[in-house]
Amino acid sequence: MTARKPARCLVIGGAGHLGAAVCRRLAVDAAQLVLTYHRDAARAETLAATLPGARAMACDLESTDSIAACVDAAVAHLGGLDALITCAGHPGGRASESPGGDPLLDVTEASWDACFALNVRGPFFAVQRAAPALRAARGQVLLVGSVDGVKPVPTPVDYGASKAALDGLARSLSKALGPAGVRVNALHPGVLTGGLSHALRPGLREDFVKHASLKREGRPEEVAAMIAFMVRENSYVTGQGLVIDGGL
Ligand SMILES: NC(=O)c1ccc[n+]([C@@H]2O[C@H](COP(=O)([O-])OP(=O)(O)OC[C@H]3O[C@@H](n4cnc5c(N)ncnc54)[C@H](OP(=O)(O)O)[C@@H]3O)[C@@H](O)[C@H]2O)c1
Repeated sequence: MTARKPARCLVIGGAGHLGAAVCRRLAVDAAQLVLTYHRDAARAETLAATLPGARAMACDLESTDSIAACVDAAVAHLGGLDALITCAGHPGGRASESPGGDPLLDVTEASWDACFALNVRGPFFAVQRAAPALRAARGQVLLVGSVDGVKPVPTPVDYGASKAALDGLARSLSKALGPAGVRVNALHPGVLTGGLSHALRPGLREDFVKHASLKREGRPEEVAAMIAFMVRENSYVTGQGLVIDGGL
């Protein structure tokens, strides 16, 4: 049996709650990693120092200049790109998640624009910039969405809509990049322990657990394991949204 080559991976948002679990899991498979930070450089540098050969780089998904600089630097550092994983997220108009909040009326123009900029526009322009490297490597893209985008659960409308857009993005990008062998999928976690789910209003976490078949929250490591599996094994799944929510 020939040894598998280590996957060259760029994990945008790779120092966050889920992103860090993704990076740790990919490192178990000996991936070569670039992970990004936006505001918390120290946390990203500390994580990178624990993962063999990993490098932390700055990336602001709301700025196409920053995305271009980061993708170009990551591709140069890794010598190509086998997997682009977007794992940063804006929580949307979370005022609606407070007691008495309204998921419709509490969405503002500012929250809508910021939410779509980070959750949809940024990932698109990252894929666009990385496309030559992904085509050259016959690589893949994994867009982290949310169950809020695929099932009618209580959520700020802007957050739910932006995460739903990732399924459309995965489908259209799969057509654009498929002829070069590039697979593009979205992954939709349910409520996880920690991270962005800290924004859930009181009681909602318990409701999610009550209605999940497995009767518990997910662990970031469980989503990370699915992402690592896709990076390692996926050769024919593309244009899909995969839900990892314990059966909600
Ligand atoms: N946690 C959950 O329960 C859950 C459930 C479903 C889906 N998700 C999705 O999973 C993904 C990760 O969420 P998480 O829980 O890990 O959140 P998190 O711990 O808050 O991490 C978010 C990450 O995004 C980065 N980030 C923030 N603004 C950015 C920007 N403008 N440009 C680039 N990166 C930026 C942060 O970097 P800095 O800290 O350096 O600023 C951080 O690394 C999100 O897409 C979220 O919607 C999470």
